[in-house]
Amino acid sequence: MKSRQSWAQLYAFEIDRAADAPVFRQIYLALRLAILSGTLRPATKLPSTRELAVQLGVSRSAVVAAFEQLLAEGYASGRKGAGTFIASDLPEPFAAIHGRKSRPASVAGTAASFRGIDDFVDVTAQSDERPFNLGRTLVDARTAELWRKLSARSLRSFGRQHLGYGDPRGTLELRKSVCEYLQASRAVRCEPEQVVITAGTQQALDIIIRVMQGPDKEVWIEDPGYSLTRLALVAAGAKVCPVPVDQHGVNVTEGIRRAPKARAVFITPSHQFPKGVALSMARRLELLAWARESGGWIVEDDYASEFRYGGRPLASLQGLDEAGRVIYIGTLNKALFPGLRLGYAVVPPSLVRAFVTARYLMDRQPSSLCQAVVTAFMAEGHFAAHIRRMREMYRGQRDALVTALRRRLGEHLTVDPPDQGMHLVAYTRRGLSDVTIERAARDHGVVIRAMSRLYVEAPAQSALMLGFSGYPRQTIAPAIGRLARAFER
Ligand SMILES: Cc1ncc(COP(=O)(O)O)c(C=O)c1O
Repeated sequence: MKSRQSWAQLYAFEIDRAADAPVFRQIYLALRLAILSGTLRPATKLPSTRELAVQLGVSRSAVVAAFEQLLAEGYASGRKGAGTFIASDLPEPFAAIHGRKSRPASVAGTAASFRGIDDFVDVTAQSDERPFNLGRTLVDARTAELWRKLSARSLRSFGRQHLGYGDPRGTLELRKSVCEYLQASRAVRCEPEQVVITAGTQQALDIIIRVMQGPDKEVWIEDPGYSLTRLALVAAGAKVCPVPVDQHGVNVTEGIRRAPKARAVFITPSHQFPKGVALSMARRLELLAWARESGGWIVEDDYASEFRYGGRPLASLQGLDEAGRVIYIGTLNKALFPGLRLGYAVVPPSLVRAFVTARYLMDRQPSSLCQAVVTAFMAEGHFAAHIRRMREMYRGQRDALVTALRRRLGEHLTVDPPDQGMHLVAYTRRGLSDVTIERAARDHGVVIRAMSRLYVEAPAQSALMLGFSGYPRQTIAPAIGRLARAFER
């Protein structure tokens, strides 16, 4: 075979079993690097998954998963019966940027600017579509059909309103719809002037961080908490103060003790991420009183509040705020689908100007056509109907997951169905390490997240986080069967 020699070089790479990155990802990254650097030429045949697995001393499923990712990303192509080949049609600019003469787009360079962000690689693994990765959604046939229809309609009416620069906050029509929705469903106090359409939670966080920035500004985060909030703050050089979370949510008294002059508090009060607890009313009032007196800001990430399956919902923290200290952020990327990239922030009047300026300097305004489709979807009542249908679907998936976990893994895990959200937390028994299970599971084609990774200072609890929203009911039990095999190992 033409490239046997280059393969010999590749076979030399080793799997680091102590590394955090799962085995399949290490194989994928090694192969991708070999392709990008030209070590592996276009159209070269890859060894069979069986051969490579033996060669590396890993499971065949890990190699299959690595190949699948290369195929999905277009680095390789499969010919039925003939095997897997390096793609022969990598586009020109790709070759020019990544070819042998110029250095490959430096992974190391990227990593260097994010020094100290240990789980950066893990963040990139978010694109893994296998069960039970977090934050996935389903869209049923009705929503898909409506989306096509409304997109076509928006394109047909394509005109001046879509062509130019607009209000950086987004269109007035969409801001009005978002306002009505939040007032009705989350008791948020707002006027369209305070609503800023964003690309989702992540952009809202980025804007807030820019607005809050200043030397030696300290902020609280939840411990454990949402890693993308922490990473965004760390990347911006903020002084982060982790505050422990218990069954009543973030410990406000402890936060005040540790960082009484904090500039801002980043929290998920309705459904703490990852633990799923709600911030108690006593703590809500304590936190609001602190913000009023100290002049601190509260950033309320109200993600996934649309999906409530039981129990008494607590309205938003923002709705209790008399002093204008809460910045409320929400996302349509969960209520609809993550690829949409739309969300919103409700900004206290005194911050609107700074917030809108930061947004304008970042990317001016949201995309006009996406906004038009979502505005029609909301105004014509489809959004509320979609939420109702998805809530029922996700409830069924949640129940199927709880049943399968209890049946197959009840002796290893303690599982309680969450009242809200898109993932559940299964606590490990008998000292089992969630990180070990996370690695073994990936080799069996199952993505689970180890909760202990999300702790910063508080004593870590070992638990598995499994997203249930993105996976049709009938796929859940077979995937738990694969997870059970990972446990056997
Ligand atoms: C705590 C939390 N907030 C917000 C989001 C949504 O983020 P985005 O709107 O950027 O997709 C997620 C998604 O995983 C989340 O877990």
